[in-house]
Amino acid sequence: MLDKRDKTKNEAKGLRLYVRTFGCQMNFRDSEYVAGILIDKGFSLADSVDDADVILFNSCSVRKHAEDRLFSNISKLKKLKAKKPDLVIGLIGCTAQSYKNEAILRTPILDLVCGPGNESDLPRLIADVLKNRCAIVAADKVNEKRPELFPGYREAGSKAYVSIGEGCDNYCSYCIVPYVRGKERSRDAEDIAREVKDLASRGFKELILLGQNVNSYKGAGGRGPGASFVKLLESLNSIDGIERIRFMTSHPKDAHTELFMAMRDLEKVCEHLHLPLQSGSDRILKLMNRKYTAKKYLKLIEDYRKLVPGGSITTDIIVGFPSETENDFRKTCRIMETVGFDSAFTFKYSPRPPAKSAELKDDVPQEAKEKRLATVIELQCRSSQKRNEDIVGKKAEILVDGHSKKDVSLLSGRTRTNKTAVFKGDASLVGAFVNIEIESATPFALKGKILQ
Ligand code: SAH
Ligand code: SF4
Ligand code: F3S
Repeated sequence: MLDKRDKTKNEAKGLRLYVRTFGCQMNFRDSEYVAGILIDKGFSLADSVDDADVILFNSCSVRKHAEDRLFSNISKLKKLKAKKPDLVIGLIGCTAQSYKNEAILRTPILDLVCGPGNESDLPRLIADVLKNRCAIVAADKVNEKRPELFPGYREAGSKAYVSIGEGCDNYCSYCIVPYVRGKERSRDAEDIAREVKDLASRGFKELILLGQNVNSYKGAGGRGPGASFVKLLESLNSIDGIERIRFMTSHPKDAHTELFMAMRDLEKVCEHLHLPLQSGSDRILKLMNRKYTAKKYLKLIEDYRKLVPGGSITTDIIVGFPSETENDFRKTCRIMETVGFDSAFTFKYSPRPPAKSAELKDDVPQEAKEKRLATVIELQCRSSQKRNEDIVGKKAEILVDGHSKKDVSLLSGRTRTNKTAVFKGDASLVGAFVNIEIESATPFALKGKILQ
């Protein structure tokens, strides 16, 4: 959810915009971008849906559950729309691209459906809806490069998302992303550097570089697999004012020791690797079209641990892929135990046509999926607890994000390894770096005290 932190244009007699975001970081960045281009046209941000003239749902289609939740949220606005017939309700993002005009058939209160590639046209699309009062569908630019616009609006804070490319060419068999985000397109390294310099001059300290598969980034030249991404990291590492650089996601088929060496050598690049495993069974990995084996994955982890000692590793796991047996599943559990991930996102498989695996029979019974999911969650909880306990007594640098949501008397921030840490401290430290000593750990967070 975007809030009303940028008040610069609120005096403008514009329309009020409310953006609700679902899905991944890419969508969060896109919502910020969309809000930015609309603010530049005189819109202001509304505090809630009730207060808005235009409501945009930035949507995710990666799992069926996410989609169902989205449509039910849109439908909840029926009463509001009946009361305020001039209200514009729009669907943007991946589900818009996937459903196109069918989204309007499914949810007739929608006035606008706009895919990720068409989002730069939103000011004009919204003006057209308001003028003609008819529903518009814009989803024809799925493979187009976004214009290099940097609207001034950024969510307040010290971290900034920076997209380094769009789309994906990997076609993992379960995944809808290549269909809704189009072909892989890398942004030019100079354009990214220009954006980052602007962010640095505005006080942002941490970058989170976003791409579906950052290791296949091609915008900075460089020979050999992953070389261009390493070059990009090197160039951003030299920008004054930026203190931390993170990135996601790395695909194991394209991850190399060169990347780990860059993580070791470039002082701003943080020691955290998100490397989705998905399954520990080679048979399932093959059906998923992941292009690596369990052995190759473990070798990567071994290299990473050698080159980046103390670095953290997180992952994504899917349980219940078509034909996954108890034996396949045990292999996933075994790798999880061997690696000892710092944390993991765990998902029950759901078919996502037109992704290829939707043609396979979704034959793992629901109860088995649920049982396997509960097992991996429990396994991960134990692993996270152990990984966090291992650093009790050590020191860590924290970038302070704000107050802890659970206990507002505490401050909360992240270590370089992307672990949440809470500690006592003055509110004036928000946005600053502090060093803490870690005193205790749960699977989800570290607790510590600031070192003077
Ligand atoms: N490009 C990123 C993000 C992909 S989507 C990457 O490759 O990691 C994020 C995660 O959602 C995936 O890693 C996968 O674990 C999960 N996911 C994708 N499609 C899914 C599906 N059909 N069912 C269940 N989980 C899915
Ligand atoms: Fe989807 Fe695979 Fe591309 Fe990730 S790498 S977005 S899982 S197709
Ligand atoms: Fe992200 Fe979901 Fe789209 S994970 S790329 S918002 S389908």
